[in-house]
Amino acid sequence: MTSAQAGPAGADIVVEDLSKWYGNFLAVDRISFEVPKGTIVGFLGPNGAGKTTTIRMLTCYMPPTSGRARVAGYDVFRDSLQVRKHIGYLPESNPLYTEMRVGEYLDFKAKLHGMDRDSRRKRVSEVASRCWLTDRLRSVIGTLSKGYRQRVGIADALLHNPPVLVLDEPTVGLDPSQIREARRLISELAGDHTVMLSTHILQEVEMVCQRVIILANKRIVAQGTPEELKNRSGSVLRAEVRGPTEEVRAAIAALEGVDRVEILQGGPVGRFNVHGRLSPEMREQVAAVVSTRGWSLRELRTEGASLEEYYVRITDPGAAKAAAAA
Ligand SMILES: Nc1ncnc2c1ncn2[C@@H]1O[C@H](COP(=O)(O)OP(=O)(O)O)[C@@H](O)[C@H]1O
Ligand SMILES: [Mg+2]
Repeated sequence: MTSAQAGPAGADIVVEDLSKWYGNFLAVDRISFEVPKGTIVGFLGPNGAGKTTTIRMLTCYMPPTSGRARVAGYDVFRDSLQVRKHIGYLPESNPLYTEMRVGEYLDFKAKLHGMDRDSRRKRVSEVASRCWLTDRLRSVIGTLSKGYRQRVGIADALLHNPPVLVLDEPTVGLDPSQIREARRLISELAGDHTVMLSTHILQEVEMVCQRVIILANKRIVAQGTPEELKNRSGSVLRAEVRGPTEEVRAAIAALEGVDRVEILQGGPVGRFNVHGRLSPEMREQVAAVVSTRGWSLRELRTEGASLEEYYVRITDPGAAKAAAAA
């Protein structure tokens, strides 16, 4: 008998202290995270970080070495059959039978799920329409573009209508317009499914994900909303002002929301880095204080206010080790 235990606060994926050793090589080191129901979570990390290994454990393709994981309330160790029923999986390589026609292939996969003829016909047409494949059901898979093949893979993952979808690098190898389509499709699916999407492309998570989990060097180094992580990037406002350096520094440092002002270069024209809660209002305030004091503002721009800067910093091998040790 199997029983589903709901994850804390409606989480569809709950991972606790999960590790994987390949022989004597540690690929995933005691990771813990949760994926709330109905969200799209980006599982972000450089190549080799351990994303696919984690996904294979969650989809029961491979047992963890230690730790716990539950999908839709089912334990990957004890209830692997139930986990497979509740999860749809698009593997990294998206293996498809290239000689089969799309409709034929989906019907075949539906048969493997134990669906009878009528439910198969109905379901194949539903997933095909969901994945914008209706007009390709008679196409031979091998003749399709990579973008269409990826949609077939996603339709396949959706056949048994699982609450949880796990997509491993779904946009790899697609051209820019195919990538846009794939992102649009994934965003649409999120209404009915909890989606975990692995990627090494940062822009991808900024565009489609509500939450991000960053994996680097086998460990989780950060998680949160893209906005939260972006705010950790410690963006700076770069100002170039003609005026007495120290007075300029003090005047800007006195503004509300400014933590500190760094002098990059003194002299008749000073260059400053302004650290703090940087908002458009802040830029206006800096401009205003400079002009009321009779100085002149030569340049004002925001630098490094990006998830990218944070990502590069946090996934740097040295930084990843430090974060893991903390
Ligand atoms: N079957 C395997 N046997 C041994 N090492 C593996 C195996 N699969 C992956 N690895 C290693 O585990 C690490 C993590 O790989 P993987 O999970 O595929 O990372 P990612 O998907 O983030 O690129 C890599 O160093 C990889 O070489
Ligand atoms: Mg991978």
